Amino acid sequence: MSTGVSPGWEAAADLVVIGGGVAGLTASRAASLRGLRVLTLSKGGPTDTSTQYAQGGIAVVAPHGDSVDSHVHDTVAAGAGLCAVDAVRSIVEGGQAAVDALTDLGAVFDLGRDGRISRTREGGHSTRRIIHAGGDATGAEIQRALNQAGLPVLFGAAAEQIITGPKGVCGVVVLSDQGIGVIHAPAVLLATGGLGQLYALSTNPPGATADGIALGLWAGATVADLEFVQFHPTVLYTPGGVGRRPLISEAVRGEGAILLDTEGNSPTEGVHSRGDLAPRDVVSRAIAVRMRALGTEHVYLDARSIDGFAQRFPTITASCLAAGIDPGTELIPVAPAAHYQCGGIVTDIHGRTGVPGLYAAGEVARTGLHGANRLASNSLLEGLVVGERAGVAAVERCDTPAEVTEIPVRGVERADRTVVQRVMTAHASVVRDGAGLAGALKQLDDVVSPHDPRGAGALSVTETADAALTLTARVLLLAALARTESRGCHTRSDHPDSRPEFRRSIPVRLNGDGVPEYAQLPTP
Ligand code: FAD
Ligand code: SIN
Repeated sequence: MSTGVSPGWEAAADLVVIGGGVAGLTASRAASLRGLRVLTLSKGGPTDTSTQYAQGGIAVVAPHGDSVDSHVHDTVAAGAGLCAVDAVRSIVEGGQAAVDALTDLGAVFDLGRDGRISRTREGGHSTRRIIHAGGDATGAEIQRALNQAGLPVLFGAAAEQIITGPKGVCGVVVLSDQGIGVIHAPAVLLATGGLGQLYALSTNPPGATADGIALGLWAGATVADLEFVQFHPTVLYTPGGVGRRPLISEAVRGEGAILLDTEGNSPTEGVHSRGDLAPRDVVSRAIAVRMRALGTEHVYLDARSIDGFAQRFPTITASCLAAGIDPGTELIPVAPAAHYQCGGIVTDIHGRTGVPGLYAAGEVARTGLHGANRLASNSLLEGLVVGERAGVAAVERCDTPAEVTEIPVRGVERADRTVVQRVMTAHASVVRDGAGLAGALKQLDDVVSPHDPRGAGALSVTETADAALTLTARVLLLAALARTESRGCHTRSDHPDSRPEFRRSIPVRLNGDGVPEYAQLPTP
């Protein structure tokens, strides 16, 4: 092997799945059931995933008083003109089968008094269609069921670089406790989750460092819709808190809680016909605007009217009590925080990217389901449905010979993570403007270290994550600058209206020098 780095170990597989959350494990299982030799990697432990923390539930069409058309309609309305409607319909239609498969694996969903699966409501949904588990511990139940499905996962193993050859993907460079290794494989699935760690405050776990975006871009994939970062409206506020912050699920508002500003008024009144249960971008923006107007760092959620709050929302109750707040008798201080990346690596509804053999599913992928703003609880749905399909699609690569003969050395740039977080939080949060976005790009230019001569594939896990965050920040800022309008999660105070000519995605890829440039959407 001609190489810039020296692998200490080698392995071979038909499919390498990068990520042990809902999308990765669902894909891994689907491919294994079809006889593929699958190697699944997770840079963290079994519960170091966003999946583990999901609260509200899974959006899936209810058997009565609901329809695929209605779920599609709500999704497209929330997506503010950028959803790919065919993809939306296809994924929504796959919901019930995906939930049935999870139930077969042993996942247990909450039942109502009538013995049927209980359904709650969240922002942007026209009906109660969100199924949940353990009250507000839906993600933990899904993760438990998938973790116990008997799939072998290499924990503490971080993918550093995807290797491609003339026939597309041929392997992955991995850093594990055995050192640097190479897995020869004709198919790789990115299921690496989100980018919450781009911001100082996020609901995401520490591992949500956008690795998959960078791995995909470095391998030649195209990303789109990265400017649409969803800020969850109600994240527990504690003075001086940073890093991962506890979420107060939208289902709390679905069950009757209301938002109040620090003067006791509703921040959403007159903003949207659905008030506090408007789509998430609308509520976050209304809160951000009210906080700015009043000069406060939070608003309140009043959940005191909800009977049996602690039984219905045990996880949230524990987080509030740990912060010294009793949600049964006190107002909960909340503020928006980074929650979800609506865009990502461009794929079809089977997870195929434009790079032969490279697949993506879950939060890292952009299928067109979410458009400019994801509808609540559509993410677990997408991870389940597209994860399964991507695992099946990878069968098409089984006969492609794959051998890594060379690990190309390509320098990557990195900035200090805390600086990236500071810049992004100041200039690319709920409300942005052109001067701030351009200034943020300039600040990144000023602080990045020169291209690391060791290249991707020879960095520590933290260095790879920092490089991923730096590249993702740059691409996000570029797209946000180019989008001189407001749409969905992207609010420009200098361009407050939506513009018809921007009713399209802004794809970005790397040019031959590794510099991001605007691109066309690929046909996977
Ligand atoms: P994750 O579950 O985040 O898994 C990512 C995996 O990739 C991890 O195993 C990680 O270790 C691994 N990884 C990352 N980089 C590398 C690398 N370089 N090498 C190897 N492994 C790597 N959505 C809903 O639909 N309903 C909800 O109620 C809901 N509530 C939420 C509440 C919270 C607090 C949060 C944070 C999110 C919530 N979401 C919800 C969103 C949803 O949970 C996530 O979008 C979804 O779980 C992401 O799944 P995933 O499989 O794509 O990634
Ligand atoms: C929540 O429970 O409010 C989060 C749901 C989601 O992100 O889809």
